[in-house]
Amino acid sequence: MLNLVSNVYLSPANFIYPIFVSENVNQREEIASMPGIYRFSIDGMLKEVEECLNIGISNFLLFGVESRKDESGYWAYHEDGIVPKAIRKLREVYEDQIGIFTDVCICQYTTSGHCGIIVNGRIDNDRTLEVLSRISVVYASMGADFVCPSSMMDYQVKAIRRALDENGFNMVGIMSYSTKFNSAFYGPFRSAADSAPKFGDRSSYQLDYRNSESAILETLKDVEEGADIVMVKPALAYLDIISKIKERILIPLAAYNVSGEYTMIIRSGLDLDRTILEVLYSIKRAGADIIISYFAKYLFSRMKEMLFDRGN
Ligand code: PBG
Repeated sequence: MLNLVSNVYLSPANFIYPIFVSENVNQREEIASMPGIYRFSIDGMLKEVEECLNIGISNFLLFGVESRKDESGYWAYHEDGIVPKAIRKLREVYEDQIGIFTDVCICQYTTSGHCGIIVNGRIDNDRTLEVLSRISVVYASMGADFVCPSSMMDYQVKAIRRALDENGFNMVGIMSYSTKFNSAFYGPFRSAADSAPKFGDRSSYQLDYRNSESAILETLKDVEEGADIVMVKPALAYLDIISKIKERILIPLAAYNVSGEYTMIIRSGLDLDRTILEVLYSIKRAGADIIISYFAKYLFSRMKEMLFDRGN
Protein backbone atom coordinates (compact mmCIF):
# COMPACT_ATOMS: atom_id res chain seq x y z
CA MET A 1 0.00 0.00 0.00
CA LEU A 2 2.81 2.39 0.83
CA ASN A 3 4.12 1.85 -2.70
CA LEU A 4 1.07 3.72 -3.88
CA VAL A 5 2.36 7.04 -2.62
CA SER A 6 6.02 6.64 -3.47
CA ASN A 7 7.11 9.15 -6.07
CA VAL A 8 10.86 8.63 -6.36
CA TYR A 9 12.23 5.78 -8.46
CA LEU A 10 15.57 4.15 -9.17
CA SER A 11 16.06 2.64 -12.59
CA PRO A 12 19.26 1.30 -14.14
CA ALA A 13 18.45 3.53 -17.11
CA ASN A 14 19.39 6.57 -15.03
CA PHE A 15 22.68 5.23 -13.73
CA ILE A 16 26.20 5.59 -15.05
CA TYR A 17 28.69 3.00 -13.85
CA PRO A 18 32.35 4.06 -13.48
CA ILE A 19 34.98 1.69 -14.88
CA PHE A 20 38.72 1.87 -14.31
CA VAL A 21 40.92 0.55 -17.10
CA SER A 22 44.63 -0.08 -16.96
CA GLU A 23 47.39 -1.45 -19.14
CA ASN A 24 49.01 -3.15 -16.15
CA VAL A 25 46.22 -5.48 -15.16
CA ASN A 26 45.49 -9.05 -16.15
CA GLN A 27 41.67 -9.29 -16.46
CA ARG A 28 40.83 -7.58 -13.17
CA GLU A 29 42.39 -6.55 -9.90
CA GLU A 30 40.49 -5.40 -6.83
CA ILE A 31 41.19 -1.84 -5.73
CA ALA A 32 42.49 -1.90 -2.17
CA SER A 33 40.90 1.42 -1.23
CA MET A 34 37.50 0.44 -2.73
CA PRO A 35 36.56 -3.13 -1.81
CA GLY A 36 34.35 -4.70 -4.49
CA ILE A 37 35.56 -2.32 -7.23
CA TYR A 38 38.19 -3.34 -9.78
CA ARG A 39 40.71 -2.09 -12.27
CA PHE A 40 40.26 -3.90 -15.57
CA SER A 41 42.25 -4.86 -18.62
CA ILE A 42 40.42 -4.34 -21.92
CA ASP A 43 39.20 -7.97 -21.82
CA GLY A 44 38.17 -7.71 -18.19
CA MET A 45 36.26 -4.53 -18.98
CA LEU A 46 34.29 -6.26 -21.73
CA LYS A 47 33.15 -8.93 -19.27
CA GLU A 48 32.14 -6.31 -16.72
CA VAL A 49 30.17 -4.37 -19.34
CA GLU A 50 28.43 -7.57 -20.45
CA GLU A 51 27.34 -8.29 -16.88
CA CYS A 52 26.06 -4.75 -16.49
CA LEU A 53 24.10 -4.91 -19.74
CA ASN A 54 22.41 -8.06 -18.48
CA ILE A 55 20.97 -6.11 -15.55
CA GLY A 56 20.01 -3.04 -17.54
CA ILE A 57 22.98 -0.75 -16.96
CA SER A 58 24.16 0.56 -20.31
CA ASN A 59 26.04 3.77 -19.55
CA PHE A 60 29.66 3.74 -18.46
CA LEU A 61 32.17 6.34 -17.34
CA LEU A 62 35.73 5.41 -18.22
CA PHE A 63 38.79 6.29 -16.15
CA GLY A 64 42.30 5.43 -17.24
CA VAL A 65 44.95 4.40 -14.75
CA GLU A 66 48.35 5.14 -16.23
CA SER A 67 51.88 4.57 -15.00
CA ARG A 68 53.53 6.48 -17.88
CA LYS A 69 53.33 10.02 -16.56
CA ASP A 70 54.86 13.25 -17.81
CA GLU A 71 54.31 17.00 -17.55
CA SER A 72 51.70 17.33 -20.27
CA GLY A 73 49.48 14.31 -19.66
CA TYR A 74 50.54 12.85 -23.02
CA TRP A 75 49.12 9.37 -22.38
CA ALA A 76 45.65 10.75 -21.81
CA TYR A 77 45.37 11.60 -25.50
CA HIS A 78 47.85 9.29 -27.22
CA GLU A 79 45.80 7.07 -29.53
CA ASP A 80 47.38 3.98 -28.04
CA GLY A 81 46.66 5.11 -24.49
CA ILE A 82 44.40 2.89 -22.43
CA VAL A 83 41.26 5.04 -22.65
CA PRO A 84 41.31 5.54 -26.44
CA LYS A 85 41.87 1.78 -26.80
CA ALA A 86 39.01 0.99 -24.41
CA ILE A 87 36.61 3.32 -26.23
CA ARG A 88 37.50 1.83 -29.59
CA LYS A 89 36.95 -1.70 -28.35
CA LEU A 90 33.64 -0.92 -26.64
CA ARG A 91 32.32 0.82 -29.74
CA GLU A 92 33.41 -2.05 -31.93
CA VAL A 93 31.82 -4.73 -29.75
CA TYR A 94 28.68 -2.96 -28.57
CA GLU A 95 28.05 -0.41 -31.32
CA ASP A 96 25.10 1.74 -30.21
CA GLN A 97 23.98 -0.51 -27.36
CA ILE A 98 25.93 1.44 -24.78
CA GLY A 99 26.62 5.02 -23.81
CA ILE A 100 30.33 5.76 -23.47
CA PHE A 101 31.22 8.62 -21.13
CA THR A 102 34.87 9.51 -20.68
CA ASP A 103 36.44 11.50 -17.88
CA VAL A 104 38.58 14.27 -19.34
CA CYS A 105 41.33 15.25 -16.92
CA ILE A 106 45.08 14.84 -16.65
CA CYS A 107 45.72 14.12 -12.97
CA GLN A 108 46.14 10.37 -13.66
CA TYR A 109 48.66 11.22 -16.37
CA THR A 110 50.81 14.04 -14.96
CA THR A 111 53.91 13.67 -12.80
CA SER A 112 52.53 16.47 -10.59
CA GLY A 113 49.24 14.64 -10.04
CA HIS A 114 47.46 17.94 -10.70
CA CYS A 115 44.50 18.42 -13.03
CA GLY A 116 46.28 21.19 -14.93
CA ILE A 117 49.61 21.85 -16.63
CA ILE A 118 52.09 23.39 -14.20
CA VAL A 119 54.09 26.39 -15.37
CA ASN A 120 56.43 28.06 -12.86
CA GLY A 121 54.82 26.19 -10.00
CA ARG A 122 51.28 27.26 -10.92
CA ILE A 123 48.44 25.78 -12.92
CA ASP A 124 48.35 27.33 -16.39
CA ASN A 125 44.65 27.47 -17.20
CA ASP A 126 44.91 28.18 -20.91
CA ARG A 127 47.59 25.62 -21.70
CA THR A 128 45.47 23.10 -19.86
CA LEU A 129 42.47 24.02 -22.03
CA GLU A 130 44.49 23.09 -25.12
CA VAL A 131 45.30 19.68 -23.68
CA LEU A 132 41.72 19.06 -22.52
CA SER A 133 40.45 19.97 -26.00
CA ARG A 134 42.89 17.61 -27.60
CA ILE A 135 41.94 14.76 -25.27
CA SER A 136 38.27 15.37 -26.00
CA VAL A 137 38.75 15.30 -29.76
CA VAL A 138 40.72 12.04 -29.53
CA TYR A 139 38.07 10.40 -27.32
CA ALA A 140 35.34 11.62 -29.66
CA SER A 141 37.16 10.25 -32.67
CA MET A 142 37.43 6.85 -30.97
CA GLY A 143 33.67 6.81 -30.47
CA ALA A 144 32.85 8.40 -27.10
CA ASP A 145 29.28 9.68 -26.78
CA PHE A 146 30.09 12.17 -24.05
CA VAL A 147 33.30 13.78 -22.87
CA CYS A 148 33.28 14.77 -19.22
CA PRO A 149 35.74 17.49 -18.26
CA SER A 150 36.56 17.16 -14.57
CA SER A 151 39.62 19.34 -14.11
CA MET A 152 37.69 22.49 -13.17
CA MET A 153 39.65 24.86 -15.42
CA ASP A 154 37.93 28.12 -16.33
CA TYR A 155 36.11 27.99 -19.68
CA GLN A 156 36.81 24.28 -20.18
CA VAL A 157 33.34 23.57 -21.53
CA LYS A 158 33.54 26.42 -24.03
CA ALA A 159 36.99 25.38 -25.27
CA ILE A 160 36.02 21.71 -25.61
CA ARG A 161 32.73 22.51 -27.34
CA ARG A 162 34.56 24.60 -29.89
CA ALA A 163 37.25 21.96 -30.48
CA LEU A 164 34.66 19.21 -30.92
CA ASP A 165 32.62 21.26 -33.37
CA GLU A 166 35.66 22.31 -35.38
CA ASN A 167 36.63 18.68 -35.77
CA GLY A 168 33.23 17.52 -36.91
CA PHE A 169 32.05 16.07 -33.59
CA ASN A 170 29.01 18.23 -32.99
CA MET A 171 27.04 15.10 -32.05
CA VAL A 172 29.35 14.36 -29.12
CA GLY A 173 27.98 15.74 -25.87
CA ILE A 174 29.60 17.31 -22.85
CA MET A 175 28.75 16.17 -19.35
CA SER A 176 30.53 18.76 -17.29
CA TYR A 177 31.74 18.24 -13.74
CA SER A 178 30.39 21.75 -13.28
CA THR A 179 30.01 21.77 -9.54
CA LYS A 180 32.93 19.89 -8.13
CA PHE A 181 33.84 20.60 -4.55
CA ASN A 182 37.27 20.35 -3.02
CA SER A 183 36.42 17.24 -1.04
CA ALA A 184 37.95 14.62 1.20
CA PHE A 185 35.56 12.12 -0.34
CA TYR A 186 37.80 11.64 -3.42
CA GLY A 187 40.49 9.96 -1.30
CA PRO A 188 39.87 6.32 -2.30
CA PHE A 189 39.62 7.28 -5.99
CA ARG A 190 43.01 8.95 -5.88
CA SER A 191 44.67 5.78 -4.65
CA ALA A 192 42.62 3.74 -7.15
CA ALA A 193 43.68 5.91 -10.07
CA ASP A 194 47.08 6.93 -8.76
CA SER A 195 46.17 10.60 -9.15
CA ALA A 196 46.90 12.29 -5.83
CA PRO A 197 48.63 15.68 -6.18
CA LYS A 198 52.34 15.43 -5.39
CA PHE A 199 52.37 18.91 -3.83
CA GLY A 200 49.70 21.28 -2.55
CA ASP A 201 46.02 20.49 -3.03
CA ARG A 202 43.22 21.22 -5.50
CA SER A 203 41.76 24.18 -3.62
CA SER A 204 42.78 26.68 -6.30
CA TYR A 205 40.53 25.01 -8.87
CA GLN A 206 37.91 23.01 -6.98
CA LEU A 207 35.00 24.70 -5.19
CA ASP A 208 34.90 25.71 -1.53
CA TYR A 209 31.99 23.97 0.20
CA ARG A 210 31.31 26.90 2.49
CA ASN A 211 29.43 28.84 -0.16
CA SER A 212 26.35 27.70 -2.06
CA GLU A 213 25.95 30.68 -4.42
CA SER A 214 29.30 30.18 -6.14
CA ALA A 215 28.43 26.52 -6.67
CA ILE A 216 25.22 27.46 -8.44
CA LEU A 217 26.96 30.16 -10.44
CA GLU A 218 29.57 27.66 -11.70
CA THR A 219 26.80 25.41 -12.94
CA LEU A 220 24.95 28.19 -14.71
CA LYS A 221 28.19 29.25 -16.40
CA ASP A 222 28.71 25.73 -17.74
CA VAL A 223 25.16 25.62 -19.05
CA GLU A 224 25.85 28.87 -20.88
CA GLU A 225 29.14 27.54 -22.26
CA GLY A 226 27.29 24.65 -23.85
CA ALA A 227 27.23 21.74 -21.41
CA ASP A 228 24.59 19.12 -22.24
CA ILE A 229 24.56 17.59 -18.75
CA VAL A 230 25.86 19.24 -15.58
CA MET A 231 26.95 17.51 -12.41
CA VAL A 232 27.21 17.95 -8.68
CA LYS A 233 30.06 16.07 -7.05
CA PRO A 234 30.18 14.65 -4.39
CA ALA A 235 26.49 13.91 -3.88
CA LEU A 236 25.73 13.05 -0.27
CA ALA A 237 27.10 16.06 1.56
CA TYR A 238 25.65 18.25 -1.22
CA LEU A 239 21.99 17.28 -1.48
CA ASP A 240 21.02 20.91 -0.85
CA ILE A 241 23.10 22.00 -3.84
CA ILE A 242 21.54 19.31 -6.03
CA SER A 243 18.06 20.45 -5.18
CA LYS A 244 18.82 24.16 -5.65
CA ILE A 245 20.45 23.57 -9.01
CA LYS A 246 17.61 21.34 -10.15
CA GLU A 247 15.24 24.27 -9.71
CA ARG A 248 17.44 26.58 -11.78
CA ILE A 249 18.26 24.55 -14.88
CA LEU A 250 16.38 22.83 -17.67
CA ILE A 251 19.08 20.39 -18.81
CA PRO A 252 19.75 17.02 -17.12
CA LEU A 253 21.51 17.07 -13.78
CA ALA A 254 23.87 14.28 -12.72
CA ALA A 255 25.11 13.61 -9.20
CA TYR A 256 28.34 11.71 -8.56
CA ASN A 257 28.11 9.36 -5.58
CA VAL A 258 31.91 9.36 -5.23
CA SER A 259 34.52 6.90 -4.01
CA GLY A 260 34.54 8.09 -0.39
CA GLU A 261 30.76 7.80 -0.17
CA TYR A 262 31.08 4.26 -1.46
CA THR A 263 33.86 3.27 0.93
CA MET A 264 32.21 4.91 3.90
CA ILE A 265 29.15 2.70 3.46
CA ILE A 266 31.00 -0.48 2.50
CA ARG A 267 33.12 -0.25 5.65
CA SER A 268 30.38 1.05 7.95
CA GLY A 269 29.04 -2.18 9.41
CA LEU A 270 25.53 -0.90 8.62
CA ASP A 271 22.93 -3.00 6.81
CA LEU A 272 24.38 -2.59 3.33
CA ASP A 273 21.29 -3.10 1.21
CA ARG A 274 19.12 -0.79 3.24
CA THR A 275 21.80 1.87 3.51
CA ILE A 276 22.60 1.86 -0.19
CA LEU A 277 18.93 2.18 -1.10
CA GLU A 278 18.35 4.98 1.37
CA VAL A 279 21.33 6.95 0.13
CA LEU A 280 20.60 6.50 -3.57
CA TYR A 281 16.94 7.37 -3.10
CA SER A 282 17.97 10.52 -1.27
CA ILE A 283 20.12 11.62 -4.20
CA LYS A 284 17.28 10.98 -6.59
CA ARG A 285 14.77 12.70 -4.32
CA ALA A 286 17.05 15.75 -4.10
CA GLY A 287 16.65 16.14 -7.85
CA ALA A 288 19.39 14.23 -9.65
CA ASP A 289 18.22 12.93 -13.03
CA ILE A 290 21.32 10.77 -13.41
CA ILE A 291 23.38 9.08 -10.69
CA ILE A 292 26.97 8.05 -11.22
CA SER A 293 27.64 5.37 -8.64
CA TYR A 294 30.00 2.51 -7.84
CA PHE A 295 26.95 0.83 -6.28
CA ALA A 296 25.07 0.62 -9.58
CA LYS A 297 26.06 -2.94 -10.44
CA TYR A 298 25.55 -4.26 -6.91
CA LEU A 299 22.19 -2.55 -6.63
CA PHE A 300 20.67 -3.80 -9.85
CA SER A 301 22.10 -7.30 -9.73
CA ARG A 302 21.40 -8.29 -6.15
CA MET A 303 18.50 -6.11 -5.24
CA LYS A 304 16.14 -6.29 -8.13
CA GLU A 305 13.50 -8.14 -6.13
CA MET A 306 13.88 -5.79 -3.21
CA LEU A 307 13.38 -2.76 -5.45
CA PHE A 308 10.39 -4.44 -7.00
CA ASP A 309 8.90 -5.01 -3.56
CA ARG A 310 9.21 -1.32 -2.91
CA GLY A 311 7.16 -0.49 -5.93
CA ASN A 312 9.75 0.14 -8.52
C1 PBG B 1 39.72 13.59 -11.86
C2 PBG B 1 38.63 12.98 -11.07
C3 PBG B 1 38.55 12.71 -9.70
C4 PBG B 1 37.35 12.04 -9.49
C5 PBG B 1 36.71 11.95 -10.72
N1 PBG B 1 37.50 12.55 -11.68
C6 PBG B 1 39.55 12.93 -8.62
C7 PBG B 1 39.84 14.27 -8.11
O1 PBG B 1 39.29 15.30 -8.51
O2 PBG B 1 40.76 14.31 -7.28
C8 PBG B 1 36.89 11.50 -8.18
C9 PBG B 1 35.83 10.45 -8.25
C10 PBG B 1 35.60 9.69 -7.00
O3 PBG B 1 36.08 10.04 -5.89
O4 PBG B 1 34.91 8.68 -7.08
N2 PBG B 1 39.99 14.91 -11.60
